[in-house]
Amino acid sequence: MKGKFITFEGGEGCGKSTQVKLLNGYLQNRGVDTVLTKEPGSTEEGKVLRNLLVTGDKDRFDSVSECLLYYADRRCNLQKVVWPALEQGKWVISDRYADSTEAYQYYGYNNGITPEMLNELYHIVAGDFKPDLTLILDIDPQIGRQRSFAKAENMQVKELRFESRELEFHNNLRRGFLEIAKREPERCVVVNADQSIQNLHDEIVRIVNERLKI
Ligand code: TMP
Repeated sequence: MKGKFITFEGGEGCGKSTQVKLLNGYLQNRGVDTVLTKEPGSTEEGKVLRNLLVTGDKDRFDSVSECLLYYADRRCNLQKVVWPALEQGKWVISDRYADSTEAYQYYGYNNGITPEMLNELYHIVAGDFKPDLTLILDIDPQIGRQRSFAKAENMQVKELRFESRELEFHNNLRRGFLEIAKREPERCVVVNADQSIQNLHDEIVRIVNERLKI
């Protein structure tokens, strides 16, 4: 495919969404044609899935059902948003992608899902397709969760299904993201998200310029 695919990953309240928008602005100023997307919920069908996934009782799905729903959303995102844009030579920036499933549904729950199941599911849905660059925004879960709860104060629909899980879950998924980065250093870069918005943006811009020739 002609374009580039950049994904942002990280635990709750790591500041991904702000950084996605800032990087998008930076790339557009440099003349790059970009598309922003997110998982879950980038398509009409995905929005319905998102609503099921991020609201309601924390135990409404087990890890297997959750994986399948996230992968259904992912397939919609790839087919309707990501692949068509890449084919046109655009750069696509996604707020979360498949590493989130591994971190949350495998490392987070540590129950019902195996790495083999995830690999198989990934290949069914995406084949050999992978992001060109994944930025993992790392933050202490205690700080991240405080930020998420503060943000939710202003939300009409409170998307707090995951935030309400115990700290151990968040520590596990943080460890998961770090292990993914260690396993795939050619694709993933870990960035300390506990710094000012501007400093974090500057660091991300430096990494994008180093890794992907603009
Ligand atoms: P967001 O708040 O970053 O938009 O993400 C929505 C929630 O969905 C967040 O709590 C992380 C979770 N999630 C998973 O558990 N597995 C996944 O595969 C994805 C994409 C998100």
